[in-house]
Amino acid sequence: MEAVKVADLQKAFPGPPGTEEVLKSVSFSLEEGSFTALTGISGSGKTTLIHLLAGFLKADAGSISLLGRDIQAMNAKEASIFRRRHVSMIFQEPALLPSLTVEENIVLPIVMDTGRLLDTDRLEQIMDSLLLTEKRRRYPAELSGGEKQRCICARALFSDTELILADEPAARLDTRQALELTGALKECTRTWHRTVLMATHNLDLAQICDRQLELKDGSICFL
Ligand SMILES: Nc1ncnc2c1ncn2[C@@H]1O[C@H](COP(=O)(O)OP(=O)(O)O)[C@@H](O)[C@H]1O
Ligand SMILES: [Mg+2]
Repeated sequence: MEAVKVADLQKAFPGPPGTEEVLKSVSFSLEEGSFTALTGISGSGKTTLIHLLAGFLKADAGSISLLGRDIQAMNAKEASIFRRRHVSMIFQEPALLPSLTVEENIVLPIVMDTGRLLDTDRLEQIMDSLLLTEKRRRYPAELSGGEKQRCICARALFSDTELILADEPAARLDTRQALELTGALKECTRTWHRTVLMATHNLDLAQICDRQLELKDGSICFL
């Protein structure tokens, strides 16, 4: 099954100097449970595409289907509810609450979603698989950049969203931590059957993924 299907997506930004056609015709699909790299030079439109997929931006033309739903037809509130249930985002800067521990940060979205019970066995399993068990009572300020990003991955796994969209999640990490984080994302697809799209300009990291899509001149080239 396809988790994501994008057809003939177009997005331009008004100038000055002139209108910039960032995405001219973008089409691709992502299989459920696959780990795909989105590569391309700086300014090629990776972040724009990720923001369109997340429903933060509206396209000028074309269609986006996420898990069979049309994200562009949703209003801001519907898109935000859809994201909370189905799509996790990972950015360059890990968005953790500084006053909560690792464990509390991981369970936060579930605690906020009333009526859902905490499955502590699953929490233990997820922390284990992302090597966070020993750090569970630490605060974000006491973690390395890589540990913070693994905490975001753990949160995504625990909140059970089928899709993970990551925009240069390793860009601020050193080589070893960047490789560890990419390995953790791969684990998310293998063990937990998530679909992951990771924008990166680092070709060594892209090679770890199952597949690479390159954004070039406003279109996708399949590598
Ligand atoms: N909100 C915006 N308004 C105008 N131009 C934008 C906006 N967002 C992105 N752009 C332009 O779109 C192009 C692609 O940017 P971006 O998607 O951030 O690329 P990448 O993530 O691959 O570096 C850039 O030239 C950038 O200046
Ligand atoms: Mg970017």
